[in-house]
Amino acid sequence: MTEQDRLFYGIFADKLIETGEMMEHEINKMLDSISTDPELAPAEHIKCRIKGSASLREKLRKNNLPETAEAGLKNLSDLVGARVITHFVGDIYDILALIEANGCWKVLKVKDYIADMKPNGYRSLHVLLTLPFGVGGIDTIDTEIQLRTIAMDCWASLEHQLKYKKNIKNTALIEGELKRCADEMASTDLSMQTIRDLIRKG
Ligand code: GTP
Ligand code: MG
Repeated sequence: MTEQDRLFYGIFADKLIETGEMMEHEINKMLDSISTDPELAPAEHIKCRIKGSASLREKLRKNNLPETAEAGLKNLSDLVGARVITHFVGDIYDILALIEANGCWKVLKVKDYIADMKPNGYRSLHVLLTLPFGVGGIDTIDTEIQLRTIAMDCWASLEHQLKYKKNIKNTALIEGELKRCADEMASTDLSMQTIRDLIRKG
């Protein structure tokens, strides 16, 4: 955490870091329980992050909320977030089952943007969790785990650049091309899953 973020988060900073580390640890344990064989490992990598204070303030401002850590903790669910990048679509649902069975948190909501993609082509599975917090009168914290395949992650990174870069020409053309790629990648993800299943069945 940067010095600026630590100042912003104040008394909550250490507990936020601890929460992120705990989530990362639990996710790694779940992944290992599926397989520790590198060839069969369900995840390509995982990443845990605490939202930077500049981006948090911007989100609070957009939502007409006070620009404080406390308002963020009480109203937002992505101050602490984890992302799990998998090889195959099926891995996402295997990991979801383990997340739902884990006693360290309560699953609040599952947003399945794979079954029900966003109009721009965004696909991922988001799991919203509630975890114990217990600092400064805040009993619980809501966090989010995003699960997506390597292909979905590559797409989301590029689409994110489009969203945040100003003065882009041909936006409509780019959006159309991105949507086409999202659909092609989804179709390839499914074919890869089928081939994997055929190979593993022997
Ligand atoms: P925010 O978008 O964070 O305000 O929350 P929300 O309640 O709208 O939830 P949603 O599930 O839509 O998005 C949560 C997070 O998912 C975002 O902060 C992004 O990280 C990611 N996400 C959602 N939609 C898109 C999308 O269309 N493109 C990309 N690149 N990322 C997305
Ligand atoms: Mg959104």
